[in-house]
Amino acid sequence: MRIKYTICIVFFLALVIIEKENNIISRVSDKLTLRQTPRTPLEPVLSSRELLRHNGSVSLRHASPREPNPAFTLLKRRVENRTQHQPQPEGSGGRKHILLLSTTRSGSSFMGEFFNQQSDDMFYLYEPLWHVEKRLTLATGGVNSTAANWAYPEVLRRLFLCDFSLLERFIEPAPVAHVTPDLFRRSSSSSLCEDSVCSPAVKGVFEHHSCKNRRCGPLNLTLASESCLQKAHRAIKLVRVRQLQTLRLLAEEPGLDVRFIQLVRDPRAVLASRIVAFADRYKNWKQWAEDGDVPIDDVEVSKLKGNCNNLRMSAELGLKQPLWLRRRYMLVRYEDIARFPLQKAVEMYNFAGIPFTSKVKAWILSNTQASKETGGIYSTQKKSSEQVEKWRANIPFKIAQVVQKVCGSTLKLFGYKLVSSEEMLTDKSISLIENKVFNTR
Ligand SMILES: *[C@@H]1O[C@H](CO)[C@@H](O)[C@H](O)[C@H]1NC(C)=O
Ligand SMILES: *[C@@H]1O[C@H](CO)[C@@H](O)[C@H](O)[C@H]1NC(C)=O
Ligand SMILES: *[C@@H]1O[C@H](CO)[C@@H](O)[C@H](O)[C@H]1NC(C)=O
Ligand SMILES: *[C@@H]1O[C@H](CO)[C@@H](O)[C@H](O)[C@H]1NC(C)=O
Repeated sequence: MRIKYTICIVFFLALVIIEKENNIISRVSDKLTLRQTPRTPLEPVLSSRELLRHNGSVSLRHASPREPNPAFTLLKRRVENRTQHQPQPEGSGGRKHILLLSTTRSGSSFMGEFFNQQSDDMFYLYEPLWHVEKRLTLATGGVNSTAANWAYPEVLRRLFLCDFSLLERFIEPAPVAHVTPDLFRRSSSSSLCEDSVCSPAVKGVFEHHSCKNRRCGPLNLTLASESCLQKAHRAIKLVRVRQLQTLRLLAEEPGLDVRFIQLVRDPRAVLASRIVAFADRYKNWKQWAEDGDVPIDDVEVSKLKGNCNNLRMSAELGLKQPLWLRRRYMLVRYEDIARFPLQKAVEMYNFAGIPFTSKVKAWILSNTQASKETGGIYSTQKKSSEQVEKWRANIPFKIAQVVQKVCGSTLKLFGYKLVSSEEMLTDKSISLIENKVFNTR
């Protein structure tokens, strides 16, 4: 009995910590974004040559310089030469590149850990596009989507090849000799904190996202690149790509064999969480929640609608499995990951084509209550689903109704039940999560 309680408490604490950490980070990054001075988008970031070639088009194939810079090519050759005599993972054909796609407050940090923990043979990056988004944010608010549609896939393509040179141009202040103390959330990537990438700490240099368990000097991206080249697989977690469609050329990149895992969460829960986490940006919602009245034609409501449509369209596209996405797309619900972490992690690894290791399993077991998951103990399963449905007590029925109105087809696609009354919303004996297996032939 006592063990059961302890497990519950530990699980709860873990969730609280993850939530808290997310909150602080989100708030800090919100502030940073707000503080950012307007700039001419792209101009200082990309060389005029690249801009010319780019010519405002979203086409990656003809738009971008295909060859990485010569310094990087040299580095790559050197590392490859050095590792030539080490055992390779089923040749280069076995190398997997995984994109974890999500939106804020959907549990993507938690899911990311499933891959971050595989640090022996996985190079994991946490939100590298944060820098790109920041530089492409318009004075009027929002991101220059023309520029982003080009820059996002191209930065990702190079990162998958362990080439940080394009990302470097978006980092502020610019790295000096490929060294920077400013990489966003370096601390969330164990790949960027391990021995080979941890250079000695430098007195007086403040690292904004310093490694958690050790002191390292500013990040030397040359070392990061070298380490990346030696890892069997690479994974990147993102909350900044709105439409899967915009990554098509990345999927078609020969040799990358990219796998997309899209993580979604009940939009009502996401909104409830954002109202708390992004208090500034969601102050209108907060007000409406208090007043119990939502102006349905408000710009915030149409933003919500746009977000839901993006999620739905990306998922519809992925589930339709067009040729370029065949066997490359997987849809995962946060609610399923939270309730059945081990099972879902194994599914994701199978999908990615990477062996599931005991290290990841151990992490999941010690950070969730998954140990009970397969035991079929109803009470614990119910407890974890209660965790997942906690939001239901934190959002007024009126707000839930608005989400249902503008996100109805999205809720339906993902298998989230609509609530028809205040009672149904708060009665947690009625689950709002339908059992749903998404078709990924
Ligand atoms: C850019 O695009 C315009 C119109 O699409 C075209 O006329 C022009 O030649 C292009 N410039 C370059 C450098 O490709
Ligand atoms: C690879 O390593 C060998 C010996 O270590 C060296 O002679 C050769 O020049 C290297 N090749 C490249 C392309 O760096
Ligand atoms: C967006 O970026 C493109 C270059 O990709 C630029 O031509 C355009 O002017 C930018 N739009 C705005 C509103 O700044
Ligand atoms: C970064 O690492 C590379 C590779 O080891 C090294 O050559 C370079 O000097 C380092 N940069 C700095 C500024 O220490």
